Amino acid sequence: MKILITGGAGFIGSAFVRMVMGSTEHRVLNVDKLTYAGNLENLAEVAEGERYRFLRADICEGEAMEAAFAEYQPEAVVHFAAESHVDRSILSPEPVVGTNFMGSFRLLEAARRHGVKRYVHVSTDEVYGSIAEPHDADEDWPLVASSPYSASKAGSDLLALSYWKTYGMPVMVTRASNNYGPYQFPEKLIPLMISNALEDQPLPIYGDGMQVRDWLYVDDHCRAIQAVLESGRAGEVYNVGGSRALANVEVVKRILAITGKPESLMVGVKDRPGHDRRYAITSEKVERETGWRARVEFEKGLEETVRWYSENREWVARVKSGAYREYYEKNYGQR
Ligand code: NAD
Ligand code: DAU
Repeated sequence: MKILITGGAGFIGSAFVRMVMGSTEHRVLNVDKLTYAGNLENLAEVAEGERYRFLRADICEGEAMEAAFAEYQPEAVVHFAAESHVDRSILSPEPVVGTNFMGSFRLLEAARRHGVKRYVHVSTDEVYGSIAEPHDADEDWPLVASSPYSASKAGSDLLALSYWKTYGMPVMVTRASNNYGPYQFPEKLIPLMISNALEDQPLPIYGDGMQVRDWLYVDDHCRAIQAVLESGRAGEVYNVGGSRALANVEVVKRILAITGKPESLMVGVKDRPGHDRRYAITSEKVERETGWRARVEFEKGLEETVRWYSENREWVARVKSGAYREYYEKNYGQR
């Protein structure tokens, strides 16, 4: 199968590209704008050739998307590209709405014109907003997005599903919980706390730190997306959770224990505006329909992630400084 993947240079997208290249025969065109979060170093092990190509392009540019589809003629699309950080979406919502909503629209239009046969729109459990105990949201739970990030994702979910209802385009939406693992930009909770702990820097805990998130190892998420791509039903939404709900302080204490650093590094800071208290979803549908199960236990996944960040401190320094762009200029700058 020929798959056009967007955002394949980011955290989850690059894990998905590595998985597809390593364990299937599919061919891939990776379309990525290379924002601060996109880094081709994440794909250093994937060689360009007949099975894999990279295209630097912005999904918001309709003509560029049209040209990419016309030339590559993909049979399937897996759409990861997004502005993915809630705090950035609060500080600067415009690029978030632009990419997450309008960019998704441009991509859907190009896919519709070119008769794509499978289309996976990668979304998030944040669209359900905060879920009061003891409930877990299923796919019919109302959308109550709190931040510009989650509202832009909720809007694009509905838009994507409308392409199935209106045009019969075979769209599937996945809604995953918080991912963690190697190559995550050190702005999200787990990689930020690990990299700060390793450098003996303060670990900022928003509010009382008792907000609950459900942690999903990135490779488990990628296997779920592959399962939905292969056997999901058109027009359906699939939740993908890690079944591991933990309060933020609990996660941070575990990181401090693994790194051997003192809890005195934790500092309480002002809370995030509109901060959702608890995310909780049930993944029963994707399990029942595709046979997918989360395999990586949180303790093991977290240890592996801490090990990766300890061994890749230069990667962290480069992504923080933006210096990885030199890699792009060296390898792709002349095109
Ligand atoms: P990321 O921020 O690490 O990567 C985003 C990628 O998209 C980058 O490579 C970036 O260069 C690219 N991109 C951004 N704007 C673009 C544009 N206009 N055109 C082309 N490329 C563009 O994000 P991530 O954490 O890997 O998330 C991937 C997807 O998964 C997103 O859609 C996100 O909403 C969703 N998701 C993330 C999580 C999580 O915990 N990280 C959980 C559930 C769902
Ligand atoms: O639930 C899925 C979502 O998970 C994805 O859709 C988003 O792309 C992804 O960024 C993530 O959103 P969160 O807002 O839950 O993730 P973040 O890592 O930013 O924060 C996790 C929790 O940790 C949240 O309650 C805020 C808190 N936090 C975060 C940071 C960065 C802190 O207390 N301190 C911090 O410095």
